[in-house]
Amino acid sequence: MDVASFSAQLQELQARAVTSIAAADSPEVLDVIESGMLGRKGELKGLLGGIGQLPAEDRPKVGALANPVRSAIEDALAQRRVGLESEALDTRLREEAQDVTLPGRPLWRGSLHPLRETEREIARIFSQFGFVVVESPEVESDELNFGALNMPADHPARDLWDTIYVKEPEGIVREADHERLLLRTHTSPGQIRIMRDSEPPIRVLTPGRCYRYEAVDASHGFEFFQMEGLMVDEGTTMAHLRGLLDAFAHAMFGADRATRFRPGYYPFTEPSVAFDIGCVVCEGEGCPACKRSGWMTILGAGMVHPIVLRNGGIDPERYQGFAFGMGTDRIAMLRYAITDIRAFLADDMRFLERL
Ligand code: DAH
Repeated sequence: MDVASFSAQLQELQARAVTSIAAADSPEVLDVIESGMLGRKGELKGLLGGIGQLPAEDRPKVGALANPVRSAIEDALAQRRVGLESEALDTRLREEAQDVTLPGRPLWRGSLHPLRETEREIARIFSQFGFVVVESPEVESDELNFGALNMPADHPARDLWDTIYVKEPEGIVREADHERLLLRTHTSPGQIRIMRDSEPPIRVLTPGRCYRYEAVDASHGFEFFQMEGLMVDEGTTMAHLRGLLDAFAHAMFGADRATRFRPGYYPFTEPSVAFDIGCVVCEGEGCPACKRSGWMTILGAGMVHPIVLRNGGIDPERYQGFAFGMGTDRIAMLRYAITDIRAFLADDMRFLERL
């Protein structure tokens, strides 16, 4: 062996390595080639192992020839590695490509029920005047639904409400009639609870479901919703009530909406009024929706009766209050031009999606 034949073998080794590196199709194959050529037991080491046969002065020459061969193989390996990585990335991009122009699956979006939406809108309007929402139970005592609201057991006004009483659980005997439980016929018993639970100034709204034993038709449900309002403070007057209800009617039904008070009767208010707005269908011209009167009644209201204040633990000599109660269903019907109250609770998706 001489330097020339070492050189030839080194060239041959480099050529072979470069060819197989170029042909390698995975990083694992490259690893095998690398250790086969350059590793501790690799071909290059093996070749250089024979260097001892050369005269001492020739050995460095072979060493000097071997270094560029090693570098060339290392460079080829590194380049091929980079090449393979980008090929792999290209393949992945191709295989995992998404067609972003495909129409997506339609999402089913929920929304608030029109009654709940209306309830929230009413609460939002009154909240601007400092009213807060307080819930009150649907199963009520006879006493709070009637008695404390100035309707003792034999009071004729009780006939206004066809009441559904709750059957007592077995073993429970209620001695007195006023303890009997019923499904509240209106949200007004909430007034008593709130007055008993708090001190004036009071500004609250009590929304919720009410029940009456009624024949069901397009404008009557045996279950329906009301929104009650109560304000109690020193110096509260009918003028405050009127101003507040006007602001409500204008926010809910348009700034130009006509409003009026008519005398009314409720045992728990004195004086009592019905609050009317200009017909939302004919704008006051007269049509079947307003029975040709041009007006629609949207709520009952009045100054809280001194007896009711006292039943709520409030001194009527010092405080006055007003209250009002509206049918949430009715407000929602006017708002969305819904003609049948039964639609609200019929669970028909076509109705719910339409709004
Ligand atoms: N509770 C009455 C009803 O169900 C509505 C009502 C009228 C509530 C006058 C009030 C009020 O607070 O002051 O018909």
